[in-house]
Amino acid sequence: MTTDIKFKKSAPAKTSIAVITVYDNAKLKGEGLTLDKASKGLISNAIKTSPKFSGKHGETLAVSLPEKSDFDQVICLGLGKAAELNAPKAEELGGKLFAKLESIGTQKAVLLINDIKSTKSLQTQEYAASIAMGFKLRSYKFEIYKAKNKDKKPFKELTIIGDEFKKAEKLYVPQSGVADGVFTARDLINEPPNTLHPPHYAKFIKKELEPLGVKVEILDEKKMKAMGMGAILAVGMGSAQKPRMVIMRWNGSKKKTAPIALVGKGVTFDTGGISLKPGAGMDEMKMDMGGSAAVVGTMKALALRGSKSNVVGIVGLAENMPSSNAYRPGDIIKSYSGKTIEIMNTDAEGRLVLADCLTHVQKKFKPSMIIDLATLTGAIMVALGHEYCGTFTNNDKLWGQMEKASANTSEKLWRMPLDPFWKQDMESNVADLRNLARTSGRWGGACTAAGFLEHFIEDGTTWAHMDIAGTAYIKADKPTVPKFGTGFGVRVLDRLIADNYES
Ligand code: BES
Ligand code: MN
Ligand code: ZN
Repeated sequence: MTTDIKFKKSAPAKTSIAVITVYDNAKLKGEGLTLDKASKGLISNAIKTSPKFSGKHGETLAVSLPEKSDFDQVICLGLGKAAELNAPKAEELGGKLFAKLESIGTQKAVLLINDIKSTKSLQTQEYAASIAMGFKLRSYKFEIYKAKNKDKKPFKELTIIGDEFKKAEKLYVPQSGVADGVFTARDLINEPPNTLHPPHYAKFIKKELEPLGVKVEILDEKKMKAMGMGAILAVGMGSAQKPRMVIMRWNGSKKKTAPIALVGKGVTFDTGGISLKPGAGMDEMKMDMGGSAAVVGTMKALALRGSKSNVVGIVGLAENMPSSNAYRPGDIIKSYSGKTIEIMNTDAEGRLVLADCLTHVQKKFKPSMIIDLATLTGAIMVALGHEYCGTFTNNDKLWGQMEKASANTSEKLWRMPLDPFWKQDMESNVADLRNLARTSGRWGGACTAAGFLEHFIEDGTTWAHMDIAGTAYIKADKPTVPKFGTGFGVRVLDRLIADNYES
């Protein structure tokens, strides 16, 4: 990543652009006022005469200064109402500021933060760290497959200037690690399925996480066969690239407490298998490993910020392809749990991959709780669109913690119902379970999928299932970039752990 964010007491020489902040009364104060006076009122006059800038949240206004001023240009950044500014809104500002600076085509800028007032809820340095986080998240690019454009000069460096710069930097550094975890998740989702197949993906995880102190174990198809993981193996049978299961362990707590388990669906490409999907938009099914990407990204974030938690991440990697070796509707397979599953539709494959991962993590690690993430159903998109992630959980306390973490990170969660009816509706006449609901048909598809997973959760175990089919991959704001991986899940999980499970 090319964008660098620094924190200093005063502006380095030769910075051409300074960003000042303005509340919604549109009045300049402190540093803004000083610059305005030096320019003989140029800035305040520009604000007064601009119909598009009044200091509202996220507005920007660029003002060119006369020659021999301290800066060539000043950008006014609207903060909105002081009382309404909080961390997520400050992040939003950072994102908008990045977009503005990028559109100007500059490579460096300073942001003067002394004019941001501390409030009851947040201190100036906390606002600054959040603006920096939003700025960094927005700077993400996925351009490794484009021939280099020599004329293109991406934005390089933002320096945040203020009296409390050291405190702001201290708050920002761990957040920056979380952003790096988000970037890894986005990279994985954006990576095409011809390069990101299960064996390659498994190797990538090892290479990426082991240097950070995460222990990584890879189960290949032979090992999984020997162990009896018939569900994940069935899904991957039709592909020349065989499945992998990857187990990542971060032991950051001094205490030897049972780990939290994070489980991710990693279907590197979902054609639907023999129950083939329609052709239109099938390219999007490269994102069907979004749950696993969130788990890998979270493990990276935890390691980078030195989280004092014990977490085991486990991802099931498989490619769902039609071929003469592929599993079929009508097959009965045996999962690692011992439960047999009648295959009704090979496109309901994610739940099979998750089933073996869930069993393994419970058998081997006896986790204190389990959270799984999966791009599991189109039905969750029908229900909640691209805005909310459907979250199913058997534990109200965990839900309360997740809701809080969500509010603080702008990754939105909506609680969905678990019901004994849906669990039962996944039982088969000829096997223990079936992978399509018996009577519900397509109605409540996200709920029946959760009902299937529930069969693989041991009694009394705290569990949450996040269906991220709608949130893992969304339309970009640029028309030239059709869709991109969001890295959804990394931030909310990191926050959940940071706020509740560190010691
Ligand atoms: N990977 C898909 C779900 C999906 C759909 C994710 C659209 C992202 C965007 C999943 O494996 C799937 O195919 N689900 C089926 C389940 C059905 C066969 C019960 C679905 O949602 O149609
Ligand atoms: Mn599918
Ligand atoms: Zn799928």
